[in-house]
Amino acid sequence: MEQRKVQFTETVLRDANQSLMATRLPYSDYKGILSTMDQAGYYSVECWGGATFDSCLRYLGEDPWERLRNIRENMPNTRLQMLLRGQNLLGYKHYHDDVVEKFVELSIKNGIDIIRIFDALNDFRNIKTALEATKKYANERTIASGCISYTQSPVHTVSKYVEMCKELKTMGFDTICLKDMAGTMSPQEAEGLIKGIKDAIGDMPIILHTHCTTGMAYMTLLAAIQSGVDVIDTATSCFSNGTSQAATETLFYALKQYGVETGLNEEAINKVNDYFKPIKQKYIDSGLINPKSMGTDSQALVYKVPGGMLSNMIANLKDLNAMDKFDEALTEIPAVRKDLGYPPLVTPLSQMVGNQAVTNVLMGERYKQISKEIKNYFKGEYGIAPAPVSRELAEKILGEGGKPVDCRIEDSKRTGEDFAAAREALGDLCRSEEDVMSYICFPDQARKFFEERKAKEENMAVYTIEEA
Ligand code: CO
Repeated sequence: MEQRKVQFTETVLRDANQSLMATRLPYSDYKGILSTMDQAGYYSVECWGGATFDSCLRYLGEDPWERLRNIRENMPNTRLQMLLRGQNLLGYKHYHDDVVEKFVELSIKNGIDIIRIFDALNDFRNIKTALEATKKYANERTIASGCISYTQSPVHTVSKYVEMCKELKTMGFDTICLKDMAGTMSPQEAEGLIKGIKDAIGDMPIILHTHCTTGMAYMTLLAAIQSGVDVIDTATSCFSNGTSQAATETLFYALKQYGVETGLNEEAINKVNDYFKPIKQKYIDSGLINPKSMGTDSQALVYKVPGGMLSNMIANLKDLNAMDKFDEALTEIPAVRKDLGYPPLVTPLSQMVGNQAVTNVLMGERYKQISKEIKNYFKGEYGIAPAPVSRELAEKILGEGGKPVDCRIEDSKRTGEDFAAAREALGDLCRSEEDVMSYICFPDQARKFFEERKAKEENMAVYTIEEA
């Protein structure tokens, strides 16, 4: 094997946790292993962002910022990584530029080193503000990683991905990540992509993020490694496979035989797995980890739609007592996707395309009824589609000669409103800028969390007085 060095990003704290157990891993469960993880020699540990922030406030009664500071304190030597959805931050709403900038500033201030920034449509205007903020508040450890949502379609060719990578490089990103969220990238596709990208952008580090959902990840990762990928995302073995990432120790073992340098400490990565085994068992026993998510499901390869989207569609059809329309709805998906300019089938686009396909089939006529979301998509609210959209459908939605009006980018430049409003709305519940940010991102959950925090403190105060 030509490749002599491949580094690992460990995902157990974020993506594995999110993929296998709906992001319900509390900090207290893994606090005890952080110092060992710090010795493991990972390229980075993905531990924040994605759904962790929402889950902390909504389900776990944790302050996400405090969690990050605690991880930082216990892992001083390892790069801490987060996943950020560009202008949407951690949700699906577009925030104003000043909110995005403040979020990035606070993320770095509280301990994040690598910000992996993506946009569901690969509309890079949506990741520009986050990139600029990362550069503005960077310290010597900060890395801005430009991330591409991987998908397959007639317009998503190797040369299109190569162009995207060149653009990310020109924008000023330090590394590039290919994010195959559905786990449908094949070994052959990985080979073509990684070679093509490496040829085009030279020594800029390339990272591959994939999932084991369809069973292809190990083959795909090996092909990517043979083609020159620099970093791979893996999860400690008891939190690997199924809808999660490929196993850290397994890939370490395979690469060691090839003489590939990984920088990993074998004893430490084994200790990490030993630590998490009983934790996994606890959540299998409680039912939080569904055995189904740990298996292999090749349906996504057969039907060319992500697993989650398929189960969503089946649930929809069952609700409507229309499972007999399943095959028809399946064939309608590529047609709707084409009309929309081949968006990657990720949330929320996967639901939008799936629901419209079902509606078309049930109505017996295409676009007799068009969802509000699809209308907004054509108005440009989600960004620019990867390929031209259907002219006919655009005219139906926007009127004759109608063109998408991109109010969104202009709108994101409105600044100074959300912060002041959030601070005022919180009143004496607010303790920090981080609190304001939590509230802007998840108002209901954050308020509830702050109220409970306040009540706890008041109880504590009463208790202390009585004791004295
Ligand atoms: Co993922």
